[in-house]
Amino acid sequence: MTSDTSLIAFRALLNALADAYGAEDRAGARELVALLREGAESATPEPTAPYRYDAAILAATEGAKHPAAKAAREAHSLLRWSATGILDELIPETVSDMFAVAPLVGPGAVIESERVRAGLFMQLSESFYPAHAHSAEETYIMLAGEADWQLDLGDWHRHGPGAIIHHPSEAPHATRTDAMPILAAWRWSGDIRSETYRMVE
Ligand SMILES: [Fe+2]
Repeated sequence: MTSDTSLIAFRALLNALADAYGAEDRAGARELVALLREGAESATPEPTAPYRYDAAILAATEGAKHPAAKAAREAHSLLRWSATGILDELIPETVSDMFAVAPLVGPGAVIESERVRAGLFMQLSESFYPAHAHSAEETYIMLAGEADWQLDLGDWHRHGPGAIIHHPSEAPHATRTDAMPILAAWRWSGDIRSETYRMVE
């Protein structure tokens, strides 16, 4: 059974993500915000099983101040953390082992959509997620911790909680963490087929 406090936290998470993406002036963000607001009224997630990265996920959000990070911590038992949904043959296990995702919006997610995907992302400490690209445009919002982000194989930029990091369609991007794992939100819009994902040499 879903406890009231977890469900309240889960819905607070959806509203906090809607608030965060409300600051992004793009059509895909606006479409996501509407879905998140609807979900915050009615979503009924099922309790989930423990996941191998639970300790890292909770370490990432310990003492976090961003409202979405705090809500994610409280709603942990309702978040379906897993390895990436990207097809196994497109992403080597050495890479997919560095992170976990908890889908919230998209085909088959708790908030069903065929047009946009969104969820949470945790990347382990001391890890390097090398350059990759996909057809969907993507926006990350940092929720807890700090990491270095790279776009188009250019300079690296350090970002912490609240930072909005946009990756245009097909633009290579990479992420590097240091001593602490990070928690971020991500969204995809446009061509959201995972088959378009590729590692960039
Ligand atoms: Fe991406």
